[in-house]
Amino acid sequence: MFKTILVWLIGMLILLQAIQISIPPVPKSINPQNEIKAPKEIMTMLRTSCYDCHSYKTKMPWYGNIAPVSWEVKSHIKEGREWLNFQEWGTYDAKKKQKIYKGIAKTINFSMPMPMYLIIHKQAKLTREQRMKIKKWAESHIKEEY
Ligand code: HEC
Repeated sequence: MFKTILVWLIGMLILLQAIQISIPPVPKSINPQNEIKAPKEIMTMLRTSCYDCHSYKTKMPWYGNIAPVSWEVKSHIKEGREWLNFQEWGTYDAKKKQKIYKGIAKTINFSMPMPMYLIIHKQAKLTREQRMKIKKWAESHIKEEY
């Protein structure tokens, strides 16, 4: 009985692998000029805590390709890049940049980086102080007329 269930489960897992989310491919040439420019300290925090989902420099964990976990991981990367790709910053218009600065100031205290991601990626954790620094930096770029 137990063996039957196990075989069945493994079979299901193998079948699930056929369903994969595809992330749009990383462009062959990325213009380094388009990357966001911020003080060094801010850049370091963005790179360690945000770049897995908000840039092309995603470090994909081994389980990131195994369904059903991969559906979650890849959809975050796909959507994360669509919303905000720090390496495409230079291609955004002023309106979009303002939206992002506001979004960062709004989300940095609780929802970004995604809490679920932080459970596994301890190195991406930000202290309260670091969050405040990112928030202040984002706020310093917010213009009222938008
Ligand atoms: C595990 C992946 C992941 C990480 C890491 C991550 N994000 Fe996100 N982020 C997303 C996804 C997915 C969305 C779009 C959907 C949503 O809001 O849930 C998003 C949306 C956003 C938005 C737009 C939200 C809004 O309401 O305006 C901002 C701003 C943002 N992220 C900033 C950051 C910053 C800053 C960091 C690092 C401190 C970060 N994110 C780290 C996945 C991630």
